[in-house]
Amino acid sequence: MTHGKGTALASASTHAVSAPMARQRCINAACAATFDIRTTLVACSKCGNLLDLDYDWSRFPYRDWHEFELRSNTTGPRSAAGVYPSTPAMLDFSGVWRFRDLLPFYEDERNIVTIGEGRTNLQRADQLASVIGLDAGNLYLQYEGFNPSGSFKDNGMTAAFTHARMVGAKRVACASTGNTSAALAVYGTLTGMRCYVFIGDGKIAYGKLSQALEYGATTLQIAGDFDACLARIRYIAEERKDVGVYLMNSVNPFRLEGQKSIMFRILEGLNWEVPDWIIVPGGNLGNCSAFGKAFMELHALGMINKIPRLAIIQAQGSRTLDRIYNELNVRWQPAATAQSRSAEGLASLRGTWDMAKVDAEYARMDAANERAHTIATAIEINRPVNLPKALRALHVMNGVVRSVDDHCIVEHKALVGRYGFGCEPASAASVAGARILLREGVIKKHERVACVLTGHVLKDPDVTVAYHTGMSKKDAGKREASRDVHIPLGCSVNRPVRVPDDLDAILKAMEA
Ligand code: F0G
Repeated sequence: MTHGKGTALASASTHAVSAPMARQRCINAACAATFDIRTTLVACSKCGNLLDLDYDWSRFPYRDWHEFELRSNTTGPRSAAGVYPSTPAMLDFSGVWRFRDLLPFYEDERNIVTIGEGRTNLQRADQLASVIGLDAGNLYLQYEGFNPSGSFKDNGMTAAFTHARMVGAKRVACASTGNTSAALAVYGTLTGMRCYVFIGDGKIAYGKLSQALEYGATTLQIAGDFDACLARIRYIAEERKDVGVYLMNSVNPFRLEGQKSIMFRILEGLNWEVPDWIIVPGGNLGNCSAFGKAFMELHALGMINKIPRLAIIQAQGSRTLDRIYNELNVRWQPAATAQSRSAEGLASLRGTWDMAKVDAEYARMDAANERAHTIATAIEINRPVNLPKALRALHVMNGVVRSVDDHCIVEHKALVGRYGFGCEPASAASVAGARILLREGVIKKHERVACVLTGHVLKDPDVTVAYHTGMSKKDAGKREASRDVHIPLGCSVNRPVRVPDDLDAILKAMEA
């Protein structure tokens, strides 16, 4: 870890090598097995549950954010995508590795794989706030679509590729609904690792498929959905060691370490003030899990004095967590009660949950042949692999879960675009969720809300163009209102205007 002061920290020419202070640990308190940081595992080899990164924080050097802030002013050759070994200036340039002391698994800074990810925006969105019913100054949008491959996945991929390099991986693979494959492929091409992406046939937006193809990943379109793809590649990574693939999906705990940085950047954007709410779409539930871990650790380290509440928003057609949390009442049972500001609080990172109830729900879904279906393809997932960690995040952050229908998603996507930089359908679920929670009175209009916009508006132009061209303003009012927010469909439709190539006609159209 780096212990320097001031700008010396940013421009140091020596590379800090951390003493071993990290290990992998099973989150199931009844097992809690630990594994060396250099082991490559898809799950706990003792009980099959999820693994986490567990740190010895006693050597964490800071008590405030000052040192992290200084790194933003780093000098020297900062962006050198794919260059190895990494220099401190390259790491300070990254919005993930600027916070490297908060994910200190990498042992040697030179191991870190960075392509300049995480330089994303937090937009104060006053116009949108007034539309959804929040006071001005209380709605913030975290645009993770500004990452190099166009989604939040780069935050996680940089960390997982760092671990892959530490263990000498040559082949990496993932199942994906789109964004993971694009992120995997861009890091793969820049590091020289061979990439495999498994995608469900017809279940991926073209913008994303094009990236995986362009970056040279071997792309297997499997006749099945995301869950089927993940089951296949997971089996190959776990059981067919002869193939030698390193798994990059969010069951990989290293990925989630990188995704914690999205929260660090929201705090940075708010001048280190903790918002009241973090709202995020939920698919495989990796992102929300990372956020819960981030806040738990920051609180235990004394870096923050309150933990924001969490809202996980799913699509109505893909609401497994919503059912398990709100209807079956499955909850995280921590191994120990968190004690504020003390490292013991971290003990509640391990816990138990009603595994039998979850398994029974999955069996019911299979028997009923219930399959996820939503326009927000990114979150079209039946069995979210990070479900226990999401329950943990909900526990730590006093969270809630809601689902929104596809109409509501599309309307809010258009609103985000109308008043800002735009986002893909899955991302808009967060803003739609904020509106619903406001209407329910769960969120108050004077509370400060940060919605994570997970992917770029250009991911799924088909949905956008269909929305704007598929119905006239006149028709829109007559259509059935969205069940969730009771707003007429097509509120933000902006139809292209056909005009002859004639100056008068063009000027007239411009005045209309
Ligand atoms: N938003 C976007 C844009 C996504 O691509 C995803 C997941 C999510 C939200 C859900 O995040 O899984 O952490 O709950 N996309 C995956 C993929 C599954 O393959 O790209 P999560």
